[in-house]
Amino acid sequence: MFCNDIGALERFMKDNLKESRYRHSLGVEKMAVKLADIYGADADKAAFTGRYHDIAKCFDEKTMDENIKRYSLDESLLGNPALAHSKVGAAILEHEFGVTDEDILNAVKYHTTARKDMSLLEQITYVADVVEENRTYPDLKYYQDLAAKDLDLCTLEILEYTISDLTDKYRQIDKDTLRAYNYIKHKLSIT
Ligand SMILES: [Fe+2]
Ligand SMILES: [Fe+2]
Repeated sequence: MFCNDIGALERFMKDNLKESRYRHSLGVEKMAVKLADIYGADADKAAFTGRYHDIAKCFDEKTMDENIKRYSLDESLLGNPALAHSKVGAAILEHEFGVTDEDILNAVKYHTTARKDMSLLEQITYVADVVEENRTYPDLKYYQDLAAKDLDLCTLEILEYTISDLTDKYRQIDKDTLRAYNYIKHKLSIT
């Protein structure tokens, strides 16, 4: 298995996620496996990553900040739980549950922002997080179909949407998201 105590990890997830976030996690697991099958990724890794990608999502800001300090993560994450939960989640998986697989850890770490040169597992996790069946936005079916048909194009459209949404709200766009956008555009030979 990918961790040292799956029972303890499962209990940690149940204890720390509210019901809707738990359901979302199972939805991401299911979608990640589906995409892994389509694109030839390791389905067991995709299932594990999808299921546990959000284990730190429901921490309050104080707990999140304590964890950022505990694991010596980038201090710019302090006070930004929305971004920090992916980095903290990966640190907990690594340090508390003995996860050593770099690809799994990176897929959790970058599931919020994506990044340049992301692996297939990272891309599957990023997309599955957005298109899993419990999401409720109006274009869900369109994005699910696109994810099954063209993972790169789907990744690009999600990044485009995220960047324009953050711009509309005058919020800062993470440098990894901008680099991911340029990377995928380049990969698709779109200039
Ligand atoms: Fe998340
Ligand atoms: Fe998520």
